[in-house]
Parts: sequence; C-alpha cells; structure tokens
Amino acid sequence: MAEVWILGGTGRSGRAIATALRARGIRPTLVGRDGARLTAVAEGDRTVVAASIAAMAGEISRQRPAVVINTVGPFAATAEPIIRAGLPASHYVDLANDLSAFTTTLGLHDAVAAAGRTVVTGAGFGVAATESVVVKLCEGRPAPRRVRVDAVASLAMEAGAFGEALAASILDGIPGVAGGGRFQGRRYRGGRLVPDRIGGDARELTLPGGGGTATAASIPLGELMAAQRASGAPDVQAASGEAPSSPVARAAMAALLPVLAIGPVREFAKRRLAAVQITARPRPRQHSWGHAVIDWPDGTTREGWLRLGDAQEWTGVVPAEVCRRLLAGEGRPGAFTPAALFGSELAESCGAEYLLVADR
Ligand SMILES: NC(=O)c1ccc[n+]([C@@H]2O[C@H](COP(=O)([O-])OP(=O)(O)OC[C@H]3O[C@@H](n4cnc5c(N)ncnc54)[C@H](OP(=O)(O)O)[C@@H]3O)[C@@H](O)[C@H]2O)c1
Repeated sequence: MAEVWILGGTGRSGRAIATALRARGIRPTLVGRDGARLTAVAEGDRTVVAASIAAMAGEISRQRPAVVINTVGPFAATAEPIIRAGLPASHYVDLANDLSAFTTTLGLHDAVAAAGRTVVTGAGFGVAATESVVVKLCEGRPAPRRVRVDAVASLAMEAGAFGEALAASILDGIPGVAGGGRFQGRRYRGGRLVPDRIGGDARELTLPGGGGTATAASIPLGELMAAQRASGAPDVQAASGEAPSSPVARAAMAALLPVLAIGPVREFAKRRLAAVQITARPRPRQHSWGHAVIDWPDGTTREGWLRLGDAQEWTGVVPAEVCRRLLAGEGRPGAFTPAALFGSELAESCGAEYLLVADR
C-alpha cells in the first residue's frame, strides 16, 4: 500500500494532519524522535523512530514512502534535505510559511519536475487561506496592479510547551531572502522584493457577518510570495493579525531584532521561547479568515474573504486533502503552493467558504 509519512507526528500539526488523513481513509505512518511519545498518539498506526532530520532523510531514501508530510520547522533547514531524500519516489507536502523556506523550496521546481514528483509547500492556514482568495479573485482576469492579503487566524490553544520547531520558525528570521536583511520585513514593488516595516501599514478589518474587527499589519511570511506568484501583480503586501502592530509592540521589536542577529543570543532566545508553557484557551472568535483586496490597471477593485473555523484544524485538513489528491494522481510535476496547484476549489473541499464583495 502507498505509505504516507508524517514527520513530527507527535506535534500539534502532525496530530491534526493524522486525524484528517484517517477521516479520508488514509492510515499514516508517524515519524518522530521518541518511540514512546509516537506510540501514545499513533492510534495503532505504524511508527518510525528517527533521531534527527538526517536520520529521517535516511529512512525516507531507504523505505520510499509515496508521500512525505513534513511538519518539522524551521523549514528553511528541513525542507531541502527531506525533499532530496524523497526523490524520485516521494511526493512532499509541508507547512512552511516563511520566505526563506519558500525561496529554497520553490527554487527546487526543476529538480522535482525532472523526477516527475510534486512538492507542495505552504499547506497550512496562512498561505492556503490568503492565496486561495487571490486565485479566486484573479480567475479569468489579466494580472492585477496591486494586491494586499490579510490572514486572521482564530485557534484554540492546548496547554504545553511552545516547542522548538515553532520557536525556531519565529526567531530565525528570513536568511537568504532577496530585497533586505534577515530581520527586516518585505513587500513587492515593481515585481521585486524590497524592505518593508514589520508591523507597518496596520489596517482594521471589519470581519463579515458581524464577526467583529481585527487589526492586520505587514509581516514577511510565505503569504507574500504565494500572493505574488498567484496574481502576477508587481505590487504586493501581506499582513497578518499576528503581526505586532501597536506602537509598544513595534518599539519592543525594534529593540529586539538587532540583538537576534547575534547567533548565541538567538539560540538562547529560541531555547527560552521553546520552553515557554502555553496555557489552554478557547479560540478567540468563531472564524478564521483569509482576505484579499486586488486592484487592476483598468480601475477595477475586487475584494474577497475566505471563511473557515479553527486555523489549527484547517492546518490539519489542507495537507491531508493535498496528500489525498497526490495519491490519486491529481498533482503535476514541480514545486507549488497549494492553490497554485489545485485552484481556488481546494479551500472549499477543505470546508472553507468564499464571501466575495461586489466589484468596485
Ligand atoms: N503555515 C501555517 O499556517 C502553519 C500553521 C501551524 C504550524 N506551522 C508550522 O509548522 C511547524 C510545526 O508546528 P507545530 O505547532 O505542529 O509544532 P509542535 O507542536 O512543536 O510540533 C513539532 C514537531 O516537530 C518535532 N521536532 C521538533 N524539532 C525537531 C527536530 N530537530 N528534529 C526532529 N523532529 C523535531 C517534534 O517532535 P518531538 O516529539 O520529538 O519533540 C514535534 O513532533 C512550525 O514550524 C510552525 O511554524 C505552520
């Protein structure tokens, strides 16, 4: 039988993906560093113990699963060795949403295509929700002039440690990304990545259907590159409800970011953040949202929303649905983001709903 491996099977995202795969009749193999922790969450499914990313890559080369779903961040470090270990046997899916990992992974397009496999990066809430709205609004239209996307996540938090993977994804910055420094924001102007202020251009969004308001501000995440590639627009900005937009938060960031450039300080900060204990809390609002406003050179403006439930649950469903489609032979060779590969309908098949505002 075609095997589906989840790297990081014990994690929040790994468990959510396993649940969504089982709901699709696919029994995953959970891969991780600790046999006892894996068995505790495996629900009788197969487990593979491997002590490090290098060891996981070795097992993938040896056992050749049909699909590898990677949930171990930072993806800038883990994606390439895992993708290369899988070629030419394994398709690959991950949850990356940082520009550094996107640059590397999407840059492997030709190598992946030559092997006849498919790589889907950014199969988590932020990228999939915002990119899907862009694809939907651009259907049947020429390339627009300007795009702004906003991601507003709502998720329940479970008690536990913040975790190494997440801490590294946040504090490593975006090394190797064109257009600015490692700890600087980005946007596209004239088709090129240029510096932007993290937490800048904050906008208060009125969420549809009486969903209240949320503030989203600029942040250099994978959403930015996905929106640019999906639209072809020269000017693109990506914002998130998680970005530090208040003057106090921005001042704290301005003080913190230069210090993070010092390697030992960054490693210390990562260890401290990874160990922080999160207290359980319910999701703060009923829905999570992807949002886009798009302007065309002819003066048309289109705006749309994607409405879904808990963002963490959706981060389980999207990779599972992408995996199901890859197993069914519905992919194409190369490296893609999810809606660029499967279109705007992917989000709907994952239980989300579009709300389109009348054209202006
Ligand atoms: N795109 C999106 O919208 C989105 C949404 C959610 C998460 N994410 C990203 O997905 C990643 C995982 O998030 P999460 O919340 O699921 O994290 P998590 O709960 O901390 O789980 C991380 C998993 O990775 C494993 N792991 C950590 N460091 C490892 C290493 N050095 N070698 C091998 N395995 C390692 C852990 O295994 P052990 O049990 O052995 O510790 C655990 O299974 C993060 O990078 C996060 O940024 C993206």
